Amino acid sequence: MSQIPREIIDEIIHRNDIEQVIGSYVTLKRAGSNLNGLCPFHNEKTPSFTVFPGTKSFYCFGCGAGGDVISFVMRTENLDYRSALETLAQRAGITIPADDSEAEVGVPRKRLYEMNLEAAKFFRNCLFDERYGKEALAYLHEERKLSIATIKHFGLGYSPNNAWMLTNYMKNKGYTDEELVVGFLCGKSRNSGRTYDYFRNRVIFPIIDTSGNIVAFGGRVMDDSKPKYLNTSDTPAFKKSRHLFALNFAKKHCEEQMLLCEGYMDVIALHAAGFENAVATLGTAITSEQARIFAKHTKKVVICYDADSAGQNAAQKAMRLLSEVGVEVRVLKIPGAKDPDEYIKKFGTDSFRRALGESKTGFDYNLEKIATSYNLELPEEKIKASSEACALIAGAYTEVERDIYIRRAAERLGISQEALKNDVERQRRARIREAKQKESRDAQLSVKNIGDRVNPDAAKHIKATAAEEALLGLMLIYDEFRRDAANKTVPISADDFVTAFSRRVFEALCELENSEAGYSKAMLGQMFDIDELGRIERIEIDRRRLARNDRDVFMSCIDSIKQEKNKLSEQSNDPFEDLRKMQEAIKNKKKDKNT
Ligand code: GTP
Ligand code: MN
Repeated sequence: MSQIPREIIDEIIHRNDIEQVIGSYVTLKRAGSNLNGLCPFHNEKTPSFTVFPGTKSFYCFGCGAGGDVISFVMRTENLDYRSALETLAQRAGITIPADDSEAEVGVPRKRLYEMNLEAAKFFRNCLFDERYGKEALAYLHEERKLSIATIKHFGLGYSPNNAWMLTNYMKNKGYTDEELVVGFLCGKSRNSGRTYDYFRNRVIFPIIDTSGNIVAFGGRVMDDSKPKYLNTSDTPAFKKSRHLFALNFAKKHCEEQMLLCEGYMDVIALHAAGFENAVATLGTAITSEQARIFAKHTKKVVICYDADSAGQNAAQKAMRLLSEVGVEVRVLKIPGAKDPDEYIKKFGTDSFRRALGESKTGFDYNLEKIATSYNLELPEEKIKASSEACALIAGAYTEVERDIYIRRAAERLGISQEALKNDVERQRRARIREAKQKESRDAQLSVKNIGDRVNPDAAKHIKATAAEEALLGLMLIYDEFRRDAANKTVPISADDFVTAFSRRVFEALCELENSEAGYSKAMLGQMFDIDELGRIERIEIDRRRLARNDRDVFMSCIDSIKQEKNKLSEQSNDPFEDLRKMQEAIKNKKKDKNT
């Protein structure tokens, strides 16, 4: 089978929203940031089938089916990889080049950058052209109170209320329909096949990377119509989850601290007020990739999310992800305004600076939340509050931290330090016990891998499999670990792997990483069958659920894999070793059944 180019596959994935595609087969219910439903691949009464929009994947915890939108269609429609791709391409109006085609496909990044620059000029000219942009300029300047200098600094623009104006302009400049569609400047009509402007009658926010390339656009309506914003979806030149809006400006001002906002308008208002260290994620919850970008640039991040409950919930996730990568976190409270933009307009710059100075640490923020959600005058409520505080404190890593937190919580909730301390310690012991139990449960589960079709070696090599899967999970989640392994900057190679399946996955990840088109998870579909893809999905999910995924963990996985491999070569003189292990595993399995 000839390989379908990565750009096309990525494009197909991006244009087929996994939630919508799966939603047309399965009734899905939202559960936090994910969706649940009854698995279409096995019989069940309680839903164990989960869709993860964030990673564009699905997994059934009941039967182990999993993968991306392509493997979903492969399974449900019983299609091979290429036919599934064709089905989805058709759904999204994308043409897959013929099997034997030599033609260049996909649009190179540089071409997209040039194209976006040209489009940005067009949008800007329209904004400042009386014939088109009068209303838009009034919106930005008068209603949103942005100075002309700020409007120009951010390169804002306007897309006229016309379906073909940009399309025609860009075609005149030599850009093809395909390029315009791939770059999300144009859509393609499903009926007539004609391309049309994607952004119409919207003020335009160019999104610029740290090298100064315009990588995407956001467009806002000027009234209350929906959707409020349209954004460029991911393209070969742009991955939303790896981008921070205005980092191109902020990177020069962020050594000490950065401000993390929800929206474009907050960032622009903050920069205009002199807080040039403000950035925003683009309408999505912060990802671990973005958290790592923060860690690269700064020591401390103040989360300046909207005051509504969505903003406050998102702050929890941001706190967790940022602390995980070692960034000091503060949370800003903005009483009397819905977001930083409004706050500055209402109360002024000095007031905002003061609020920043008073921003709370993650612990204080959460303690305050607990303290204010209960009536501490009532004994039963006080008990609940202190048990929540306990849970919060027990999660702290060091004894010094716990000590400080205990004092603060005792004072805030009006309980004695000793009592709180005892409870915290009890919680900690319970947690450690649980973690140990989970470990041994996991080990037993691995024993059940006897007869594992995907990785038949797993049952014989439980420890090695665990270490291998941990390493692969890290390589699946984090670009840097995959790159290090592929470049051999860390001491691990395919020969070190004990189980054949893990070795194949490792080789595939390295091969894709080193390929000309670069790594894309979707390409694994060309190399593994659907059951194997399900296993790969589980390996990644297992890893994502763990709190610690840093370089130390990565390096210790490498060590363990090598140790296991060494043990094996030492034992390889004993012809009955394998047999004995099998017997032991079966014995354990029986024991497991009896308990
Ligand atoms: P204003 O309402 O103009 O002040 O904009 P804002 O930037 O404060 O927007 P808001 O707080 O409502 O949303 C935060 C961010 O989420 C925005 O900047 C957008 O990036 C994104 N967003 C908001 N609404 C939509 C939407 O309808 N679609 C998409 N794709 N993104 C949105
Ligand atoms: Mn706003």
